Amino acid sequence: MELTVAITGASGAIYAQRALMHMCASSAVERINLIMSEAARTVARVELGANLGEVDSHAINEWLKLPADSKLIRAHRLDNMAAKPASGSHVQAGMVIVPCSMGTLGAIASGACTNLIHRAADVTLKEGRKLVIVPRESPYNAIHLENMLRLSRAGARILPASPGFYHRPKNIEELVDHLVFRILDQFGIPHSQATRWQGEKEVGS
Ligand SMILES: Cc1cc2nc3c(=O)[nH]c(=O)nc-3n(C[C@H](O)[C@H](O)[C@H](O)COP(=O)(O)O)c2cc1C
Repeated sequence: MELTVAITGASGAIYAQRALMHMCASSAVERINLIMSEAARTVARVELGANLGEVDSHAINEWLKLPADSKLIRAHRLDNMAAKPASGSHVQAGMVIVPCSMGTLGAIASGACTNLIHRAADVTLKEGRKLVIVPRESPYNAIHLENMLRLSRAGARILPASPGFYHRPKNIEELVDHLVFRILDQFGIPHSQATRWQGEKEVGS
């Protein structure tokens, strides 16, 4: 499958990093169109010490521990409205925005398409394809909540960056993967079942 992954400037760059790593490790994923906002690159630098150019495939492959010559990820410039994800006639499975800032959330909810992330999300909704939005802010104000409701009603799946703890994570990666695997589930991408709830063992069984 082919899908678009957008990274925006909300806290939680590690969610994007691990979502991309797990997607790339799956044989179900043949191509990822990657779009990063400028703020996303700032947050990746602040939180992970990563220096990512907008379309620097070498730096992106290194960040994701992919072979230097890997072509799985195709990075697009944020201002490139002629890129494939900008058109509904380019068929793909859908799009995930992880993490999604309140700024990008608001732009998509209003229909303003001022960069490729907004446009690709708008196209995904109008084509009835899966749009998974992973918002991150705390606390939410009424505008954030109304924007999420608006997008949910328009067909987006709101999957907040709030991982569960019932798999007893031992480190940040295991905690992050709880959320990341929920994203992969949305697209039917196989993954290790490590964080799936197996039901509580009943007393006496
Ligand atoms: C370190 C850092 C963390 C941030 N965390 C958040 C956040 O969790 N949620 C949010 O909506 N904005 C956050 N911001 C602010 C956004 O980056 C800012 O609103 C930006 O304009 C979003 O642009 P974008 O949507 O094009 O990525 C953060 C900024 C920085 C530098």
